[in-house]
Amino acid sequence: MSVARPTYQKVRKAVFPVAGQGTRFLPATKTVPKEMLPVVDRPLIQYAVDEAIAAGCDTLIFVTNRYKHAVADYFDKAYELEHRLEHAGKSDLLELVRNVLPDHVRAVFVTQSEARGLGHAVLCAQPVVGDEPFAVLLPDDLIFSRGPGALAQMFALAASTEAGVVAVQDVPREQTCSYGIVATTAWGDCDNRIGSIVEKPAPEQAPSTLAVVGRYVLPPQIFAKLETQTPGSGGEIQLTDGIAALLADHPVLAHRFAGRRFDCGSRIGLVEATIQFALEHDDLAEDARRYMRTALQQYDTRGGV
Ligand code: UTP
Repeated sequence: MSVARPTYQKVRKAVFPVAGQGTRFLPATKTVPKEMLPVVDRPLIQYAVDEAIAAGCDTLIFVTNRYKHAVADYFDKAYELEHRLEHAGKSDLLELVRNVLPDHVRAVFVTQSEARGLGHAVLCAQPVVGDEPFAVLLPDDLIFSRGPGALAQMFALAASTEAGVVAVQDVPREQTCSYGIVATTAWGDCDNRIGSIVEKPAPEQAPSTLAVVGRYVLPPQIFAKLETQTPGSGGEIQLTDGIAALLADHPVLAHRFAGRRFDCGSRIGLVEATIQFALEHDDLAEDARRYMRTALQQYDTRGGV
């Protein structure tokens, strides 16, 4: 009797590679992991975790290293704090602290002892992912959406097509050298099967201006491809190269997600995200708008506040 291959109908596991060095945020990242930098009142990692849980994931796999204890501490139960808040009758705050991770969700931590690249970080999660399709979320890509989150959109597409899915967005041609870039072809009813993918091509060599954003739904076959990858762009084992090797055997679609992505791995991206989330925040929106209007006026009229 043959055993059916696992399918994309119910993806439960999400991998969060958080073992990068975060050099673009030095000196803050001397002690604070990039993923713990806050956007308003929540660390970046919480936004990605919430997106994965909303999409239906119940097993969160964090790929960390010895400098990232703060990430594990954040998702651990804070007994003393909870006790104090309970004692003080601060039920709203208690709820906030407890909801960092709902009861039905479990967190697993695996180590990437050397930062050998994103592809290598994903490979480190293999023993926990096993033989089933899974998601990868890069927490420094923060995606703001009013409807279903980007990952939920991708899960729906993967389930209806039985294909892997990579999130993409259009970028100006001069920026292709900062992204993985895909070229798409027709596949049945779809016009968005990835035909080729290349890491950080020069603008004149880029096959398109469709750039990969940090959300992936991948089959377990990616691990065999990553195992045999030699270091690519930047001397690192690239997830992009693993996906390129996968394309011949397995369909992977490019999904232009509904939502706005903030590159919180860059300083300006984190500033933009902070402004956006403050402008949308129930408690802060009014004050944030007032401050921005006044500050901008003062810069326009007298060059500063
Ligand atoms: P980045 O390319 O943003 O690198 O990694 P970085 O080291 O985090 O940041 P900078 O460029 O030095 O400022 C993209 C994602 O891949 C993870 C990072 O944690 C981030 O989520 N990553 C990268 C790993 O987990 N391991 C690696 O070896 C490399």
